[in-house]
Amino acid sequence: MSEFHFTEDYRTVVGKLIKENDFETAMSLAVGGDWKEMGDKLSKFVQSQGVKSGMDLLDFGCGNGRLAYALSKDIDLNSYVGVDIIQEFLTYAEKKCPNNYKFILNNSLSIPLSGSQFDFVVGFSIFTHLFQAEIMIYSEQIFNLLKPGGTFLYSFLELEHHWETFEKTYNDHKEYSRPYPHLNMFLDRNQVRTFACKCGFILEKFIEAQDDIGQSIVILKKPN
Ligand SMILES: C[S@@+](CC[C@H](N)C(=O)[O-])C[C@H]1O[C@@H](n2cnc3c(N)ncnc32)[C@H](O)[C@@H]1O
Repeated sequence: MSEFHFTEDYRTVVGKLIKENDFETAMSLAVGGDWKEMGDKLSKFVQSQGVKSGMDLLDFGCGNGRLAYALSKDIDLNSYVGVDIIQEFLTYAEKKCPNNYKFILNNSLSIPLSGSQFDFVVGFSIFTHLFQAEIMIYSEQIFNLLKPGGTFLYSFLELEHHWETFEKTYNDHKEYSRPYPHLNMFLDRNQVRTFACKCGFILEKFIEAQDDIGQSIVILKKPN
C-alpha cells in the first residue's frame, strides 16, 4: 500500500527543511516555528484547561516535543505518551525530554495503544492536516483511550477565523495543483460537534482562537 497523504507530505516537508537549515532550525520550522516559546504557551494553556501533576496524558501528533519539553519543566505528570508519524521528530523529542516520557511512531489509522488509560488527550494542529474520515477514525479511538470523565482537547481551523490561512492554502493549491506543502483542513463548529457526539463525547466548550495559540480549541469530555 502507498503511504498515507500525511506521512508522504510530512516526510517531504521535513526532508526539505533539514536540507535547507541547521537541524535545530529545521525541527522548529517543521512544527510551525518558535519551538521554545510556543511550547511554553501550549503548556500554560493546557494547564489552564485542567492538565496537572499526577495525570496520564496522551499528546496525539506530538511533533518533536515542544509541548512535552515545556510540560516536563512545569509539572510532574504520572505518564506522558506522544504519538507521531515522523521518526526524526520522535528522536529529537526523546533527547529533550525526561526518560519516562514515551514517544511512539505510528503511520497507520490505528493508534497502537489500548485500555482506558489517559486522563487527558491533547492534539495541537493535527486534525488541521487530516481528512474528515481520519479525524473521526482517530477520535473514536481517543474516546476509548480516555478514562471515564477524561478530557480531549484539540485545535482546529475555521474559515471564519482563519481566512488568511485559507487564502494561502488555496493559492498554494492553485500553484501546485494539490494541497501544498500538506493538507490544511478547515472545520466548522457543527462538524466538530457532530464528530464529537457520534463518538460519545460531551462537548464542553469552544475557545476562540487566541493570539498566542492561533487556532480554535474544542474541549470534549468522556462521560463518567
Ligand atoms: C503542525 S505539527 C504540530 C506538532 C505538535 N502538536 C506541536 O504543536 O508542536 C503537526 C504534527 O502532526 C503530525 N501528524 C500528521 N499526521 C499525523 C497522524 N496521522 N498521526 C499522528 N501524527 C500526525 C505531524 O508529523 C506533525 O508533527
